[in-house]
Amino acid sequence: MSAADAALMEASLVAVADAGIDIRLPLFERFFAAYPARRPSFISVDAASRRMTDETLQMMFGLAGGEAWVWPLVAELVFTHRSYGALPIGEYDAFIDMTVAELGVAAGDAWNAETAAAWARSAAALKTMIRKARAEWAEAMPAGAPQLAE
Ligand code: HEM
Repeated sequence: MSAADAALMEASLVAVADAGIDIRLPLFERFFAAYPARRPSFISVDAASRRMTDETLQMMFGLAGGEAWVWPLVAELVFTHRSYGALPIGEYDAFIDMTVAELGVAAGDAWNAETAAAWARSAAALKTMIRKARAEWAEAMPAGAPQLAE
């Protein structure tokens, strides 16, 4: 991850914004198609899809830029998500991968191998950070930590 990655990622975000494409609804349809049992966990898909999509993109973009605010945001995300049950780590991975995939579809001609590689590096870093947050909550606060379903 680097300033070059951040620039490529920003260019694709701007292209999608300029095209007026909102990726969150196809993203959530893709997620629910893969994990249909999760749909009832959402009280408001409209409200949650805005924040989940935005924050997933923000975390990845922030990681590419070496932003220090990403870690506390990820730690909070993992803790608040304990309310939604024992979320397997594979669902976090899938949501991140699907977010990048939907962005790529929406970016059209603004998407290329370099851009995809930049997003993939940040996606991998976010997945690693979520694992670290889950492990640290489990160690620091075993009784209240998110359940570590695999
Ligand atoms: C990088 C991954 C994720 C991010 C950044 C993220 C972020 C968020 C945010 C910001 C909210 C809104 C919280 C609020 O307004 O109080 C939320 C809600 C929620 N998230 Fe996630 N989330 C992620 C992954 C997941 C996964 C894998 C699941 C699995 C089902 C999930 C399930 C939920 C549910 C059920 C809600 C509550 C929705 C509602 O009450 O309508 N999230 N998420």
